[in-house]
Amino acid sequence: MPKDTLTVTDNRTGKSYELKITDGTIRSLDLREIKTSESDFGLLAYDPAYLNTASCRSSITYIDGDKGILRYRGYDVAELAEKSTYLEVAYLTMHGELPTRAELTTFSNEITVHTFLHENARRFIDGFRYDAHPMGVLIGTVGALSTFYPDSKEVRNTEIRRLNMIRLMAKMPTIAAWSYRHSMGYPLVYPDNSLSYPGNLLSMMKRMAEARYEPNPVIERALDVLFILHADHEQNCSTAAIRAVGSSLVDPYSAVAGAAAALYGPLHGGANEAVLRMLSQIGHVKNVPSFINEVKNGQGGARLMGFGHRVYKNYDPRAKVIKKLADEVFQVTGRSPLLDIALELEKIALNDEYFIKRKLYPNVDFYSGLIYQAIGFPVDMFPVLFAIPRTVGWLSQWEEMLNDQEQKIARPRQIYTGYDERKYVAVERRMGK
Ligand code: CMC
Repeated sequence: MPKDTLTVTDNRTGKSYELKITDGTIRSLDLREIKTSESDFGLLAYDPAYLNTASCRSSITYIDGDKGILRYRGYDVAELAEKSTYLEVAYLTMHGELPTRAELTTFSNEITVHTFLHENARRFIDGFRYDAHPMGVLIGTVGALSTFYPDSKEVRNTEIRRLNMIRLMAKMPTIAAWSYRHSMGYPLVYPDNSLSYPGNLLSMMKRMAEARYEPNPVIERALDVLFILHADHEQNCSTAAIRAVGSSLVDPYSAVAGAAAALYGPLHGGANEAVLRMLSQIGHVKNVPSFINEVKNGQGGARLMGFGHRVYKNYDPRAKVIKKLADEVFQVTGRSPLLDIALELEKIALNDEYFIKRKLYPNVDFYSGLIYQAIGFPVDMFPVLFAIPRTVGWLSQWEEMLNDQEQKIARPRQIYTGYDERKYVAVERRMGK
């Protein structure tokens, strides 16, 4: 009879061990039984950057990177993008089920009543340098909100936790818009709670002298779809960050600030900004082949930004939806001159041995930046526009971690490579180089 176990022999001692396999996984802690002597600490698994380590059990998001599948709570992301709204998807991500009409109305109302920020928050946004990067302002402001809601420390209290999750989702667009307006030197615009979630963001970012801002329905829907596509993505860098930070039982505002900081980097949420800069730098379709060569030769560490993914070894399903969406947006805004460069890059890369061999395909960021730019958002805002919808994913993963009996404070091990014990040498006796 086949057994769900793994038998390993330690050739140092000749002893054999039988490790249990559950869900195609062995428990790293079982390796600790493998010892050379009683005093031996036991075997550790070494896995820098978690390339082959499952750090949790999760029922939120499913990805099959080889097949290019992404599902939230079992629903295909492309179907959700076509048929639902961001708030429906946020409810689904958070609660595990799609809302009924009544549940959706209540949820939308809850989010709407929490969109305003305390006036003090407005004053410290004013205190940032005139040209502060909006992502830096967002990280600082979200973290600072913990001081306005000290009860949010009670992370084990289900009701308090839920209230603060709603507050965070509601306030993120306001913080995002205000960080943008501050960096532009524009007066801040207060939320318009009669508008949809993306419509209100557009109003807070774009309204100037008009009494009321009417979002263009195509742009409003495009933003909603982009939000759906960014709602969650299982254990990526920023989600791993919120789980690690949150495992110390810190309040959710500090934990989300930690996740947003992880998102800011150019290999994660900063990639769409990097794609736009790359396309502008290439400048013209005729320069695409020489740029591709630079990437292949590793000149100056150049990478084809918006290509490749740790998990997807196929076309990112989100990129497919976004490519279609781009056409709809360009009908309203006019075609971006950088689109031709992007299309040419994609065409060449998808047929080039270097990219085929390494399974490098366009990811979510390859076209999203072009849409954001067409809507009129500056590149600095791109990671902020990623952080807004991802907040629900971060918080749902954070809550799942808190409710998981197996989780403890995150605390990896290391392989120490430094000196053995050394004797202290007085400063006057140390030899300089
Ligand atoms: N352009 C050129 N070569 C690449 C690229 C790229 N974009 N990505 C990976 N490679 C090469 C890499 O040089 C390596 O080649 P070799 O085997 O010869 O050394 C091979 O492919 C494997 O790369 P890796 O760095 O080991 O792969 P990874 O899984 O650690 O990195 C990644 C994943 C997303 C960081 C990387 O593909 C990358 O830097 N892409 C560009 C940045 C980007 O678009 N990031 C957005 C990710 S999607 C949004 C999100 O989830 O945050």
